[in-house]
Amino acid sequence: MPDITASELTLEEKASLTSGASFWYTKPIERVGLPSIMLTDGPHGLRKQEEGGDHLGMGQSVPATCFPPAVGLGSSWDVDLVHRVGEALGVETAIENVGVLLGPGVNIKRSALCGRNFEYLSEDPIVAGVLGAAYVKGVQSKGVGTSLKHFAANNQEHDRMRASSDVDPRPLREIYLRGFQRVVEDAQPWTVMCSYNRINGVYASEDPWLLTSVLRDEWGFEGLVVSDWGAVNDRVKGLAAGMDLEMPSSSGRTDAQLVTAVRDGSLAESTLDVAAGRVIDLVRKVQADAGAITGPLDVDAHHALAREAAGRSIVLLQNAPVAGGGALLPLRRDARLAVIGAFAEKPRYQGAGSSMINPTRLDTALDAIRDAATGDVSYAPGFSLAVGVDEAETAALREAAVAAASGADIAVLFLGLPARLESEGFDREDIDLPADQLAVLDAVLAVTENVVVVLSNGGVVALPFAGRVPAIVEAWLLGQAGGSATADVLFGDVTPSGKLTETIPLRLSDTPAYLDFPGEFGHVRYGEGLFFGYGWYDARGLEAAFPFGHGLSYTTFAYAGAAASVTADRDSEVRVTVTNTGGVAGREVVQVYTGLADSRVQRPERELKAFASVALEPGEAREVVLTVRREDLAYWDIRVDRWVVEGGEYAVEVAASSRDIRATVSVAIDGDAVTVPLSEESSLGEVMAHPIAGPVVQAAIAQMMQGMEGVESIMPEGVDMTKMMDSFPLGRVSMMAGDAASPEMIQGLIAMANAGSAPASGD
Ligand code: BGC
Repeated sequence: MPDITASELTLEEKASLTSGASFWYTKPIERVGLPSIMLTDGPHGLRKQEEGGDHLGMGQSVPATCFPPAVGLGSSWDVDLVHRVGEALGVETAIENVGVLLGPGVNIKRSALCGRNFEYLSEDPIVAGVLGAAYVKGVQSKGVGTSLKHFAANNQEHDRMRASSDVDPRPLREIYLRGFQRVVEDAQPWTVMCSYNRINGVYASEDPWLLTSVLRDEWGFEGLVVSDWGAVNDRVKGLAAGMDLEMPSSSGRTDAQLVTAVRDGSLAESTLDVAAGRVIDLVRKVQADAGAITGPLDVDAHHALAREAAGRSIVLLQNAPVAGGGALLPLRRDARLAVIGAFAEKPRYQGAGSSMINPTRLDTALDAIRDAATGDVSYAPGFSLAVGVDEAETAALREAAVAAASGADIAVLFLGLPARLESEGFDREDIDLPADQLAVLDAVLAVTENVVVVLSNGGVVALPFAGRVPAIVEAWLLGQAGGSATADVLFGDVTPSGKLTETIPLRLSDTPAYLDFPGEFGHVRYGEGLFFGYGWYDARGLEAAFPFGHGLSYTTFAYAGAAASVTADRDSEVRVTVTNTGGVAGREVVQVYTGLADSRVQRPERELKAFASVALEPGEAREVVLTVRREDLAYWDIRVDRWVVEGGEYAVEVAASSRDIRATVSVAIDGDAVTVPLSEESSLGEVMAHPIAGPVVQAAIAQMMQGMEGVESIMPEGVDMTKMMDSFPLGRVSMMAGDAASPEMIQGLIAMANAGSAPASGD
């Protein structure tokens, strides 16, 4: 590609670069030899529509490997695995000559109801950020770009193109932006996709604070900002804010608006040059490696990786012993099995909407179970996934399921959410499994207690039967190889190792955003503040059905020798020896949470700061070293508008889940200095804590109190006067104290404190 700069282009050419040529392509400029590039979905596979496909981006796409969507892959908590899946996605993207794969999605699962939770990684920003960065590095290692989305605070589908996410600065920074920050700083995605919604009233697509001050000036983002498809509200405002490329095509309408704005002086041409320059840079990056990876795609190898990833995504929630025996899982190969539930035959393996992949293959659990079993396997669909099935048919399906279960040693029930209940574009109304499925389960439980439930769902579901069903397998949406991967786990060819990246609540009304979701009249208030996910359950003392971080194995792990220390670069290193104490090889996801009791700011009791997935043979012990980054201990201080690490003795919990803490150690952290300038608005408490003004004021108050000895107080005996004065604004003191603290004296005190000088003697 020739070495082009924006300054060589005409005004119209520059403007033309800042919006798409079509649904998926940027515009070429043939005069200077600038080609067009393709950006396409993403995230868990390539959704490339055939040339000449429809113009809405909705039709069939070329076959591609459907890897587990984020809800599954995230449950692996495995950076290396996510990186490998990213590499495979990068290869498929490159083979198809696509320049940018639109993913990963790192929005926080704020509510269990969000219709798009299947496409997001976690309720926790560190999990989302760390795994998101691994994905980006994996994909981009193959010479193609990614698009980090949906920036930002896009945590629901309801009214997603208008609603304002009204979030206070601390949760915004500490929860909703933190994952994005991590990915940008660690992995430099080639593009960031701004979301549809507004944030505190401003559209993400035209927010200079978000797209320039935070993203570029603070985090050092070097790539291009692309709009979510159709997210542009005011193109001229958006360009000036830092929104470089509008997608899809506006048919030239918004390009003309930009030209007019430059001509009438309302938009600086240099601003347009910057945006056009970023598009040129992106095209250059894409061109640099174009053609380096060619087909044909190794369909078998990628299917095998999809199967491995799916197996690692499965979370064994429960595997209790049954009467007169051990646990049902792993299944005995010669057991007589009744496989019940339509999902066994018609897998739900991905979510609906823009991420929908046309898979190269599709495994079903039923086939895979039949292949792996040596005993009889019967099958009954149990329920229908069709709409409008009448009661007679429902009853007949249920009875056939009961008959199958009666003749078997173990019933394996595949329950889940039908595709119509969750999708991009709308949220769920409840977290319940369909009543007809629960009725089948009840009917089966009436004839056998040897029941394994396997769940297929993109968002969490309530599990009211957890006390009655011995084994529950959370199999999420697992991509095209999910069926065979499920059989791998059921029979123990793969030891389950996934853990929950989101809490499974007992009731919807227990969830943090319950009272503020999905908002009203275009606003959604993030009223739960800092208490996202598990932090909410801890703070309210609520039980969860299964807590964040939970996941069982067919083996057991012991933790020993936990220790934490501060390293030379001021991070904290946490060491723990983990031993596989069971009889089979397995993997453990070790989690590190920190907390600071008596913090000066509000905090959840524990927050995840590091994790590692460790493979261990039976009997093997390994020392695991985890790093808690110093910056991850920081809170966003609204007084000084920056990150601050508070000093103190932090509790460091080494854990198998957020509710299974195996060891607690501590680490002493030096805090950052924070100097908050004094003003008339400062409270007397703040003034008294000030290193310079504090002693002066304390002395003055002591003197004043002496003068009041013997005077009957309005305060009850035993109450310290200073406690009452603590929250009194400094500027109002003269009103009470008269000449003893005139406005001039107060101004002098403020000036002296802010200048950092102690009062001269005799002052
Ligand atoms: C989605 C994006 C997607 C884009 C292109 C939008 O509706 O929100 O995630 O990448 O469409 O299909």
